[in-house]
Amino acid sequence: PRNVRRGADGSLAVAGLSVRDLAAQFGTPVYVLDEDDLRSRCRDFRTAFPDVDVYYAGKAFLCRAVVRMIDEEGLHLDVCSGGELAVALAAGMPAERIGFHGNNKSLAELTRAVDAGVGRIIVDSFAEIDRLTALARERGVRPRVLVRVTVGVEAHTHEFIATAHEDQKFGFSLAGGAAAAAAFKILDEDVLELRGLHSHIGSQIFDASGFEVSARRVLALQAQIRDARGVELPELDLGGGFGIAYTTQDDPAAPHDLAKRLRKIVDSECEAERLAVPQLSIEPGRAIVGPAMFTLYDVGTVKDVDGIRTYVSVDGGMSDNIRTALYDASYSATLASRASAAEPMLARVVGKHCESGDIVVKDEFLPADVQPGDLVAVPGTGAYCRSMASNYNHVPRPPVVAVRDGQARLIVRRETEEDLLALDVG
Ligand code: LLP
Repeated sequence: PRNVRRGADGSLAVAGLSVRDLAAQFGTPVYVLDEDDLRSRCRDFRTAFPDVDVYYAGKAFLCRAVVRMIDEEGLHLDVCSGGELAVALAAGMPAERIGFHGNNKSLAELTRAVDAGVGRIIVDSFAEIDRLTALARERGVRPRVLVRVTVGVEAHTHEFIATAHEDQKFGFSLAGGAAAAAAFKILDEDVLELRGLHSHIGSQIFDASGFEVSARRVLALQAQIRDARGVELPELDLGGGFGIAYTTQDDPAAPHDLAKRLRKIVDSECEAERLAVPQLSIEPGRAIVGPAMFTLYDVGTVKDVDGIRTYVSVDGGMSDNIRTALYDASYSATLASRASAAEPMLARVVGKHCESGDIVVKDEFLPADVQPGDLVAVPGTGAYCRSMASNYNHVPRPPVVAVRDGQARLIVRRETEEDLLALDVG
């Protein structure tokens, strides 16, 4: 995060608070959210994309306090389940600034979204269009929808988080004609209000050209719809997926550069197709919350394995960060509780779970004198870590502490063994 410094005693401090004090007060592992950092990233997006609606993708990390922060910063919110919608509404997010995603929304979820009056529902299948049409008729309302288009872009990212190549579960295929058919169906039945098209090509993307290709393709469909039905759709959503730096090897584009390129391609494409420029929206999740948090762990066992490397075990692991095991993701780690003049040694930061793939940081140089009781910080854990956390091995999930101006505030409390046992009613 932006407000991390090394203090005079060599320990890290964030927003003026020593990590040693945070660990003493809240225990470890703990996710620490630098609130000013998160807010400044919201503002970076808003200034870089001045007339674009920025939807924060809540799947990256969601809790009531963060909903209030992004609401205060003027962002919209993208949710993709009844649970995320419930958190958003409980935090007071205005429903008209919520977008509802998902490839398999249940009737109960759709009903709740319609009754709450969410600003838009991104439809993902013909079955969903039918379900929503019936619901709208029954309720006597006209929900606003976008059609999610699978544009056939191969985003260069991990297979599991790429979403716009043809052979996968999301959206309506552009090449196969399903996307046009979905738009025509909605327009012809005229029960739902078709506001526009949506495309999301994947996540942790560095190469802006994927967004350009996808913008070009959805705008071509927009022109096709205009030619066939005489309707110009007023909105266009280009999704999220903007990459962040997890290690010093990563070099993501700044929001400003991305915004410039997207604006240029949309403007020139609209001119070529003689389309009015639609109201644009984007859905960044990771780029807003990812760098704003770090995880603080306590070091336990330190084991040298045959001189190959040293395994530094921490008091969490794949239950609080599954990304290394699942996507082969790269993170870094740093000794956080003190300075050390010891030689660097090749370390692997591992968790406490019962599998050898329980790795937090694959390769990192840590001082050779790392020992039990030290604190290690892993930066960049704001996105898809707490939100994908599990209770594997009955390890309670860690809390989230927001820090700002020398104040620490618990925003998600630590799970307890009582919480886990409370679910176990047999
Ligand atoms: N919009 C849509 C429709 C999405 O499906 C996603 C992410 C986003 C926006 C936000 O993408 P972001 O800006 O955060 O990259 N668990 C994976 C990431 C899965 C992303 C799923 N959809 C990970 O940990 O890398």
